[in-house]
Amino acid sequence: MTERRMMLELQVNGEKRAVSVRAADTLLDVLREELGLTGAKPGCLTGDCGACTVQVNGIPLKSCVMLAVEAAGSSVKTIEGLNNRRLQEEFIRQAAFQCGYCTPGFLMNIDALQSACPNADAQVIREWVESNLCRCMGYLEIEAAIRSVMTGTAGNHRE
Ligand code: FES
Ligand code: FES
Repeated sequence: MTERRMMLELQVNGEKRAVSVRAADTLLDVLREELGLTGAKPGCLTGDCGACTVQVNGIPLKSCVMLAVEAAGSSVKTIEGLNNRRLQEEFIRQAAFQCGYCTPGFLMNIDALQSACPNADAQVIREWVESNLCRCMGYLEIEAAIRSVMTGTAGNHRE
């Protein structure tokens, strides 16, 4: 039996895209397999780790648990389309990653936080990113990078 497919139209990183999808495809499947955007990572595939986080209409969402068809007509931003130099450079400056598998998800989530809540305090920041998990490191460097970007200071986790 042939699989039923349908056309999905959406904007991805500012470009109009039309792609053939199956009803059960997740947004993560389509981004990675149909559009070749592999920055959003498959981790748990159950919505728990945040490695697959992208922004849909500016809202950070786990693309592994969102059906692609639910994104019809939406504007999707992935790590490939992120242009937040300050945030990206701060992660490098603070060495806030080891293998980097979790990093795209963190960056997409924090970028959304900067827009939604630019004055977020430490508690809000912690709660905002608590659904992003990192298996390699403690969160000190990551927290320091986020705090530094959010407050506009150039702190260091060792300070
Ligand atoms: S892969 Fe989507 S939340 Fe873990
Ligand atoms: S740096 Fe490896 S999972 Fe976070």
